Amino acid sequence: MQFQDLIKKRILVFGANGMLGQRVIELYKDQPGIELLTSSSENESIFPGLAYLQCDITKREDVKKLIYDFVPDAIINASAYTNVDKCETERELAWKVNVKGVEYICEAARVLDTHLIHISTDYIFDGTAGPYSEVDVPSPVSYYGRTKLASENAIKISGALHTIIRTNVLYGVIASGRLDFVRWVVNSIRKGEKIRIVTDQINNPTFLDDLAIAIVDIIRFKKYGIYNIGGRELLSRYDFTMRIVDFFGLDPSFVTAIVTEDLKQPAKRPLKSGLIILKAESEFNYKPVSIDESLAIMKKELAL
Ligand SMILES: NC(=O)c1ccc[n+]([C@@H]2O[C@H](COP(=O)([O-])OP(=O)(O)OC[C@H]3O[C@@H](n4cnc5c(N)ncnc54)[C@H](OP(=O)(O)O)[C@@H]3O)[C@@H](O)[C@H]2O)c1
Repeated sequence: MQFQDLIKKRILVFGANGMLGQRVIELYKDQPGIELLTSSSENESIFPGLAYLQCDITKREDVKKLIYDFVPDAIINASAYTNVDKCETERELAWKVNVKGVEYICEAARVLDTHLIHISTDYIFDGTAGPYSEVDVPSPVSYYGRTKLASENAIKISGALHTIIRTNVLYGVIASGRLDFVRWVVNSIRKGEKIRIVTDQINNPTFLDDLAIAIVDIIRFKKYGIYNIGGRELLSRYDFTMRIVDFFGLDPSFVTAIVTEDLKQPAKRPLKSGLIILKAESEFNYKPVSIDESLAIMKKELAL
C-alpha cells in the first residue's frame, strides 16, 4: 500500500437532497477512505449525522468559501434548476442556478485542481436524430436545454479538470422528495387514477444506481471529458410505462396513449432522443442493468 492510499479522498456533493444527489450519497456514505461533505440549498440534510452545509450555488462567495475550506479531491454537481417548464418563465433564476452557479464552482475547482463531475442532459439536443453520441452537435429546443448547454460550455472554457455526464430520464430508489417516474406510475394506477403517456418521446431511461456507480468509477479511474450515461434499452415513454405496468401487474386500461403535442406544455421536448453509451461501456466497463432488473430492485427496496 502506498502512503497516498492511506489519505482519505474528499468528495463534495452539491444537490445532496435531490434525486441523484441522494443516491450518490447512499453509495459513498459508508465507504472507508472517503470523507464526504454534502450540500444543498435547503437548511438541513435528509441524511441525519452526515456532514452537511447549506449553500446556494448562485452565491459566488459562499460557493468559493465552502470549496476552499473543504479542499475536495472531487466535486459532484448534482444541483440544478430542473423544472423544464418553469425554466421557460423563470429564465433569470434558471440561468443563475444552471450557468452562473456552475461557473462559480468551476472557478474554485480550477484553483484547487479539483475534479469536477457535472451532470448534463439529452435536452441539449433537438430530438430529431437520436440516440446521440458524445460528439453530436447540440441544438436545444427549450430554455432548460439552453442553460444546460451553456453550463457545459462554461465548464469547458473554465480550465477546471472536468467530466460532463449527459444522462436522461432518471428513475430509481430515492428516500425523500418528489416521486420518480416509476413510483408515480405505480402509485397513480394503484390509487385508481388514469394516466396519459406520450408515445412520441423516445429515450433510454437511466436507473439512478447505474448513474451513481458510473460517477464513482469516473472519479476512481480519472475519466475526463464527456460521457453519456443512460439505460440499456431505447424505448418510448409509453412502452416504458407498459413495462412498469406489466412488471407490477397493474391494469393497462388505466394508461392512455397520447402524443407530446396533446400536453400543451410550455417547454418543447426533444422527441427522438436518447444517448449512445458505447464510450462509457468500452472505457470503464459501464454496465447498466435491464429495465426488468431495475424494477425488481425497486420492488424489493421500496416494498412496492
Ligand atoms: N431527473 C432527470 O430525469 C434528469 C435527466 C437528465 C439530466 N438530469 C440532470 O441531473 C442532475 C440531477 O437531477 P435531479 O433529477 O437529481 O434533480 P433534482 O431532484 O431537482 O435535484 C436538484 C437539486 O439541486 C438543488 N438546487 C436547486 N437550486 C439550487 C441552488 N441555487 N443552490 C444549491 N442547490 C440548488 C435542489 O434543491 P431545492 O430542491 O432545495 O431547490 C435539489 O436538491 C441535474 O443536473 C439535472 O439537470 C436529470
